[in-house]
Amino acid sequence: QELQINLEQIEKGGYDHFMLKEIHEQPKAIRDTYRGRLLRNEAIIKMAGVEDNMKKFLNANRIIIVACGTSWHAGLVAEYIFEDLARIPVEVEYASEFRYRNPVITENDVLIAISQSGETADTLAAIKLAKSKGAFVFGVCNVVGSSIARESDAGAYTHAGPEIGVASTKAFTTQITVLSLIALRLSRAKGTISSSDFRHHLLELEMIPKKVEQALKSDAHIKKIADIYKNVSNFLYLGRGYNFPVALEGALKLKEISYIHAEGYPAAEMKHGPIALIDENMPIVVIATKKGHYEKVVSNIQEIKSRKGKIIGIVTEGDIQVRDLADHVIEVPESLDSLSPLLTTIPLQLLSYHIAVLLNKNVDQPRNLAKSVTVE
Ligand code: AGP
Repeated sequence: QELQINLEQIEKGGYDHFMLKEIHEQPKAIRDTYRGRLLRNEAIIKMAGVEDNMKKFLNANRIIIVACGTSWHAGLVAEYIFEDLARIPVEVEYASEFRYRNPVITENDVLIAISQSGETADTLAAIKLAKSKGAFVFGVCNVVGSSIARESDAGAYTHAGPEIGVASTKAFTTQITVLSLIALRLSRAKGTISSSDFRHHLLELEMIPKKVEQALKSDAHIKKIADIYKNVSNFLYLGRGYNFPVALEGALKLKEISYIHAEGYPAAEMKHGPIALIDENMPIVVIATKKGHYEKVVSNIQEIKSRKGKIIGIVTEGDIQVRDLADHVIEVPESLDSLSPLLTTIPLQLLSYHIAVLLNKNVDQPRNLAKSVTVE
């Protein structure tokens, strides 16, 4: 028993929980994921799984992304990147819905399956269905040799290292890293990005680990915010564009480990319903980075403020406008809009972590949840 506890402590590497360790591992995990693939000096992206199947990608009518949970959120971010940069139509589907709704799949479709564990039953079944209809299946998995990795026609691993905490953290950011690399590679091949923009993206992606390190420095500040709101019963998370999926992910993290009800919404959808929930007891996390429809988000923040909601703004370093309106701001370094989810997601992971710890919840093994859902 004692030996077991000591072993676990060693595995946690000095952190109180695996989740916190994994949050802090993200700079390294992201670097490991692009290492050998992003060659900035040569201005190329090298990914064998994409290169060997370039024709399939370039001739695809569309890309269908299937996944569950956090991996599905990474898929939503990818939808924005693929369409924005590579101009390829993308659909993102919950694997559990896709497999049972008699979807139209053709030989000209590329299906990307995203899964940390590579063992999620619904995602695996979605792959098998797509393969049986002749689609080309590309897996984005973390666990080497997992069922989804083996069942895919080709793929690219995220190199996040083992993720033990049930709440996914570094898997999410490394999935976005891999998917960004693929989108960039395809946009270069298709000629939908200029060579200077391409180089700029490579440079910005290479700088992300340093910027994540910077974002992690807000930990103590976030813990104070967590302490203020730990006893509320509801949270709302809002974001637009690339940061809409981050809002969903932030809400999922909070639900999973603190058992506080939280919902993520595209900020502009607020006035179509959720605005009715807002009063002085409702904390609302708003992702309001400079490049992402900033002015529109600021006006959403004004709407919240006039209804007395408590605003926690995730802002770009040096922001003044939101700071004036919000009750709290958490800064992240500036980056490209398309890469901002890799930064804005960090404070949301820390916020949910600290709330759960303050509430004395079992952070690494929340009730009712398994690390990988291998049954329906
Ligand atoms: C995330 O925090 C979850 N625990 C869960 O939603 C997870 O992302 C989902 O079950 C998918 O798992 P996978 O990536 O291993 O397929």
